[in-house]
Amino acid sequence: MARPKIYVTHALFPAARAALATRCDAEYWQEPSRPPRDELLRGVTDKDALICLLTERVDEALLSAAPRLRIVANVAVGYDNIDLAACTRRKIAATNTPGVLDETTADLAWALMMAVARRLVEADGYARSGAWTGWNLDQFCGADVWGKTLGIVGFGRIGQAMARRAAGFKMRVLYANRHRAPAEVERALHAEHAELDDLLAKSDFVTLHIPLTPATRGMIGEAQFAKMKPTAFLINSARGPIVDEAALVAALATGKIAGAGLDVFEHEPQISDGLRRPNVVLAPHIGSASVETRARMASIAADNVIALFDGRRPPTILNPEILG
Ligand code: GLV
Repeated sequence: MARPKIYVTHALFPAARAALATRCDAEYWQEPSRPPRDELLRGVTDKDALICLLTERVDEALLSAAPRLRIVANVAVGYDNIDLAACTRRKIAATNTPGVLDETTADLAWALMMAVARRLVEADGYARSGAWTGWNLDQFCGADVWGKTLGIVGFGRIGQAMARRAAGFKMRVLYANRHRAPAEVERALHAEHAELDDLLAKSDFVTLHIPLTPATRGMIGEAQFAKMKPTAFLINSARGPIVDEAALVAALATGKIAGAGLDVFEHEPQISDGLRRPNVVLAPHIGSASVETRARMASIAADNVIALFDGRRPPTILNPEILG
């Protein structure tokens, strides 16, 4: 049988490339920038598989341009870039990379929280500028993280990884989630279930760990900022459009909240000018960006593709109903 042809929108990491080379003929997009849409549509025309990043929109138009396609492997856990229903209608497998990036993403969310609360980026800029002439009692006083209340919105793997970190900081942990966690999980993580409004009103740090879906788009907006404490911080390492960015800019400008730590934005890679303020720490969507984790994510995508062509179930398939 001919080797399956695969279009890969990134050079990936050596282990993933080596795995793919054993089983497929892969064409890689090697440029540092993301492939333009017309290149993507060209690339998939004669391919049996696509490995893509969260920046690639996999919609009806792309699937129509790829009549042979049997699998779309996203190198990300979030898959809001993929029209899953359209893949399922066409019996195309779709896969993501759950499980391997939880701790790494929680680390980044924690880093954003620490950095914004303790004014680390401002302080770094000051120290590096040469402006520091001596210690002073009130220099760069920020907010304590330890002992405060952490409000975790979304209590899946990453949300729970945040709760574990909170224990070391003697924090009270509230969580809001569609489904209440089992009592033993709540007990082990010292986490209390709360309705979102209650969590917003009580938390000193509100951190988002939910997927972007039609239900969560714009979920944190003007009304939610109005419920938060003026001393509270918002941390978003999930997806930008969960937050109404204009409402966030307004909340920061009017002092409705104290600051924000943001790894994701409503219109990435654009960042609203109103977010470029000292009390906001910005990162360019690097939640899972450790070498180890990104390499694991690439390998999972490769494993999914290889499994499908070997006649096995792709380990992290999102639409298993398409399998016979
Ligand atoms: C990153 O944002 C991911 O969804 O993996």
